[in-house]
Amino acid sequence: MQTPILLRLPRYDDVATYTGFLADPQVTRWLEDRCQRPVLFHQALAFVLGDAWCRLAIDYEGRFVGMTGLEDYDPVNGAARFFIVVGDRSAWGKGVGTATASGMLDRGFNALGLRRIVSNYLAGNEASRVVHQRAGFQIEGQQRQVAWRNGAWVDQVLLAVLRDEWLKQGGA
Ligand SMILES: CC(C)(COP(=O)(O)OP(=O)(O)OC[C@H]1O[C@@H](n2cnc3c(N)ncnc32)[C@H](O)[C@@H]1OP(=O)(O)O)[C@@H](O)C(=O)NCCC(=O)NCCS
Repeated sequence: MQTPILLRLPRYDDVATYTGFLADPQVTRWLEDRCQRPVLFHQALAFVLGDAWCRLAIDYEGRFVGMTGLEDYDPVNGAARFFIVVGDRSAWGKGVGTATASGMLDRGFNALGLRRIVSNYLAGNEASRVVHQRAGFQIEGQQRQVAWRNGAWVDQVLLAVLRDEWLKQGGA
């Protein structure tokens, strides 16, 4: 059975919690370069509550544990980019990431009418690899030496899932 989570609109009281998540190097180590320096409250505010096409808070066991969304909406090609941050480490390894990815694909394909959802992760982010694979993403390529992490240049893995193939796999 899939882990029960709630994907809901973000609230003001999520911002301080999210700022705290991004102060944890274990959480940020595989995130974008802008998260490799301290993220201040007003920057987290802009992210959590700023204008966004589809940005949602993840609740697990009644508490806010992270953010997810579909960004870079491309209306010409019916495409968008999935992202996920489970910032509460006590929620890791319990299926929250997998349930969130499945929930966002369901939303993207069934509610928002997308036909292609792309994503990426830095090679070495094993938990993200597992989550994307379980949700049905296919690897499309690898960009070499995209970011400096943990004393080495790391590649970025590019993925996508198409509505048709996702439906054939049984959907959410
Ligand atoms: C990546 C992330 C979303 C995963 O969330 P999660 O709730 O832990 O995901 P799930 O529990 O659904 O699945 C993770 C799986 O990866 C496995 N895993 C974690 N670290 C691993 C490692 N180093 N090697 C192999 N497997 C690993 C877990 O054991 C789990 O598998 P299991 O269910 O068989 O035990 C979460 O760790 C996170 O947000 N990290 C910080 C930000 C980030 O990296 N976001 C993604 C950017 S692309």
